[in-house]
Parts: sequence; structure tokens; C-alpha cells
Amino acid sequence: MSVHRLFDTVSAASRASNCAVTIRRPDDWHIHLRDGETLKAVLPFTTAQFARGIIMPNLVPPVTTTQAAAAYRDRILAARPEGSDFTPFMTCYLTDETSSDDIERGFQERIWIAAKLYPAGATTNSSHGVTSLKRISSVLERMERIGMPVLIHGETIDPQVDIFDREAIFIERDLLPLMARHQGLRIVLEHATTTESVDVVRANAARMAATITPHHLIINRTSLFQGGLRPHLYCLPVAKHERHRLALRRAATSGDRCFFIGTDTAPHIRSRKEATCCAAGIFSGATALQTYVQVFDEEEALDRFEAFASLNGARFHGIPPNTGTITLERKPSRVIAEVGVEDEEIIVFRGGESLPWSISGVSP
Ligand code: NCD
Ligand code: ZN
Repeated sequence: MSVHRLFDTVSAASRASNCAVTIRRPDDWHIHLRDGETLKAVLPFTTAQFARGIIMPNLVPPVTTTQAAAAYRDRILAARPEGSDFTPFMTCYLTDETSSDDIERGFQERIWIAAKLYPAGATTNSSHGVTSLKRISSVLERMERIGMPVLIHGETIDPQVDIFDREAIFIERDLLPLMARHQGLRIVLEHATTTESVDVVRANAARMAATITPHHLIINRTSLFQGGLRPHLYCLPVAKHERHRLALRRAATSGDRCFFIGTDTAPHIRSRKEATCCAAGIFSGATALQTYVQVFDEEEALDRFEAFASLNGARFHGIPPNTGTITLERKPSRVIAEVGVEDEEIIVFRGGESLPWSISGVSP
């Protein structure tokens, strides 16, 4: 463990004083970078925080082929800021038509490292997703055989189910039967938001993990209605009751190998958020690490921050951890409020606030 307390040890009593942690450079296992001008505008925020990351394939049209994934990877590499060594790991968007042979070829050729399973219509740009899990059984069987993980957006698409129950009901009705059918399949339950997710992941940690976003550690469902409707706090899965937020904080800060960073940074321009029908997604890319480290500090778990940020995800994906380091300091700094894209802007999660922690240095 290479967490160094540079100035003092952390306790509730000492929280007001200076403190810094140096950890191996972290990775973000769930990123939406979009494409074109938006990609160029948001990518520098991710590369300033993370050395590597899993790129979500829900573009329009979605990334369903090896050619599309390789071309998208090239556009990301070309959009990196000068001097950046950021490594994007690509994913395949599963549809009812995905072929097992294509999935395997892309995995063996290292074009993608996982496949993303969106139940059709569950979230932003998921209309081409899977209409019934049984329809992709042969693909999942192949993935199980070759050890390729499936990253699951775990919400039921049954419109009768209350939106706050969709994750828990998905686990019961869809995920557990899928896990029984595919007992060796490696699974990441993406952006976990409930105690039910924490429990199922823990119980199956030999082959399962969960990503946890910064925003689900900070906001609960009441935050969405604080003083009025807050479109910039709306994402899917939607933030849940306070008891779930507390369970997520305990899980993330436990140090357990089955939990790791996945920011789900999901930029949308302001006019798509402040709209009659607000798009789902929170742009957390610019403030993710400052938020995570604040949570670990508040939970008196800074000594477990490196596991969550830099080790557990790499281990799950069978990749060595990064060799460089990043230092975060408990020193308030005001963060950027918005990011311009063409003649619009993207509002930053916790943007414009003075956050208690800041990034003080990266050494590659
Ligand atoms: C994501 C997006 O905007 O692409 N939105 C979100 O609310 N998280 C899609 C997703 O991960 O669900
Ligand atoms: Zn996402």
C-alpha cells in the first residue's frame, strides 16, 4: 500500500489541518466521452485525473463492431491533450444481433476488453440494447468461455416498476437468473445505487464487481428536489434513498476488491438538461477524484482509497496497476463551473463550488 500521509494522520480531530495522499494513478472504469467537439471538450478533464479508462459505447449509432470500436479509439487517442498518455479501453455495445464470433475476435485482438449490456431503452442511447437477456445467451456463453466480462446497466425495463425500484427488481428478476444460467460469467454491475447491489456483488465477489460513481456517494433522491427540480443531478440509475447512499459509502470505503471507480461521467449540453424532458447523465469528469477522496476522508478511510481508485479495477480486468502516482491534498479549491462546447455549455457536477480536496500533482 503506497498511501502516504505527507503532513499528518487523518482523524476527525485533525481533519481541519493539512493532509495529502499519494496513490498510484487511478483508472476510471466507466466513462462517456461522446464524440466530435464534445469529446474534445471533455476528454482533458478525464485525462487530468485518470491514466486509463473504459469507454462506453452508447454513441449514436452505437459501437457494435470491431471496426467502429477501433475507429472510435483512434478518435479518442487523437483528441488527447498534448503530452497525455491516457489509455482508452473499448467496449462492445450488445444488441439482439451481436455475433459470438465477432465478440470473441474483438476480445482476442484486444480491440475491446468487455461488452456493455444495456437493457433496451433503460437509459440514454440504449434503444438498440438487448430486448431479452435470453436472446443473447449464446454470446454470454462465449464470453464466459473466453473470460470476457460483461458490464451490466442493471435496471429493469418493465415500465410498471417504480423508477426507484428498477435496480433491485432487475437483480431479482433478471440478474440472478442470468447468473444461474452462466455460472462462470464475469460481471460488473455498473453504477451500483442500492444495498441490494452491494449485497449481490459481495456474495458473488469471486466473479463479480461493481463500479460506484462519485455522485451516488454524495447525493440522495431528496437532493434532486432540493429547493426545486435539479436537472443536473438527474442520471440513471437515479439517486436513491439516503440509506442506500450510506451503504454505497460503506462499500466503496471498505477496501473490498469487488468495488472500484466508475465515474459514469456523462456530459449533456445545458439545453438537453434544462429541458421539458431532461436527458439522464451527470458530468462528473472534472470533479470525480476530489469527490471520491473527500468521501474517503469523511469516512476516515484514506488508507483504503488507493485500493478503490487504483488497484481493484485493474485486478478485476487482469491488468497491472499504473506505475505513476497522483497526489491529492486537503486544500480547498474552486472548481470550474461549466465547460464550453461550440456555442453551448456542459454543467459540471459540484461545479463552481470550493471543494475541500484538490489535485496537487501527477507523476507519470
Ligand atoms: C448515461 C449517458 O448519458 O450516456 N446516462 C446516465 O444517466 N448515466 C448512460 C448510462 O450510463 O446510463
Ligand atoms: Zn454510464
